[in-house]
Amino acid sequence: MKAVKICDGIYWVGAVDWSMRNFHGYHTDRGSSYNAYLILDDKITLIDTAKEPFKEELLARIASVIDPSTIDYIVSSHVEPDHSGAIPFMLQHAPHAKVITSAPNGLRGLKAHYGADLPYVGVKAGDTLSLGKRTLQFVPTPMLHWPDSMVTYCPEEKILFSNDAFGEHLASSKLFDDENDLSVIMDEAKKYYANILMLYGRQAKMALKTVKSLDLDMILTGHGVSWRSHIGTILAAYDEWSAGEAKERAVIVFDSMWHSTEKMARAIEEGFRQRGIEVGFYDLKQEHLSNIATDLLTSKYVAVGSPTFNNQMMPTVAAFLSYFKGLSPRRHLAFAFGSYGWGGQSVGLVEDELKAAGCTIVLDKIRLMNVPTSAQLEEITKTVAEAELNCRQRQL
Ligand code: FEO
Repeated sequence: MKAVKICDGIYWVGAVDWSMRNFHGYHTDRGSSYNAYLILDDKITLIDTAKEPFKEELLARIASVIDPSTIDYIVSSHVEPDHSGAIPFMLQHAPHAKVITSAPNGLRGLKAHYGADLPYVGVKAGDTLSLGKRTLQFVPTPMLHWPDSMVTYCPEEKILFSNDAFGEHLASSKLFDDENDLSVIMDEAKKYYANILMLYGRQAKMALKTVKSLDLDMILTGHGVSWRSHIGTILAAYDEWSAGEAKERAVIVFDSMWHSTEKMARAIEEGFRQRGIEVGFYDLKQEHLSNIATDLLTSKYVAVGSPTFNNQMMPTVAAFLSYFKGLSPRRHLAFAFGSYGWGGQSVGLVEDELKAAGCTIVLDKIRLMNVPTSAQLEEITKTVAEAELNCRQRQL
């Protein structure tokens, strides 16, 4: 395994995880990578490590360029073990290295994960480290993605080492945006933001302000593909996503037992279609939550349907609403729908959860007993179209 040269004295030495399909609940259809970077200067510096099972790959790539025992610093941008998991192993091979981390949260996190006895050095906002010809400037980015997170800027190279920010779960044998399909990268960057960072939109906005003030030739990410030709594209996308900007689009999410709630979902889709609104249509038996979250990031409306099942909503719908609420989107225009045989509690429960997720309810619960008739479905379509028009008129 060899290092990949990025520019004079800077190499990618990470690992590509082609097979990973689940990152604690996030469905990673295209795998991922754990990007680490080696800087050769008077002081030799490793920016991040890799997930522990990839430690030998990391070491081999480093050893293809230098003797690992000559490493002076290991910068830990983020305590989460997909980046820090190989730090103890690397310290065995780089016995003189110091581990640079944010203070106090990085120090606290690394000590909890790897013990208090490692050679940690805490850094704060504005602290710099001279490597010889190059300097590293440390910029805390708390909650992108954990309290300890920080990014590192090298002004001489105009490179930002951004760790989780601006990355994607995407396995590729090519490192950069201009070597991969940009539409695929942007799809995965959006999915990453939606599932990992949507909850921290306010913090993302603050970090973005700092990043935009930097003179940048490259953003070297902690996951997936890095940026050098389309930096403006990813920064503009983060601007849009962190501002919570919504498109004229509706996401319909449901589960169904005997197709009645599904028929209602189709009638709702027709209502939005008649108003010229694009629709994302998701049967929870078929679609993963993390894909739905990606569509929700930039959609104005959400309609959630469940039949009544043991006096509750379907477990799939409960899981979706829990995930949705956790991401704290707090701006969708929403309503609940569903069929029932008797009881019919589910739709009210769904509406309660939508309110708890910060949604504005724009249409009263749509509940139908047993199998919907054609006339009832037509009425649903008409009601949804009217509700959408009403939202427009009220400029919601
Ligand atoms: Fe890629 Fe939050 O770790």
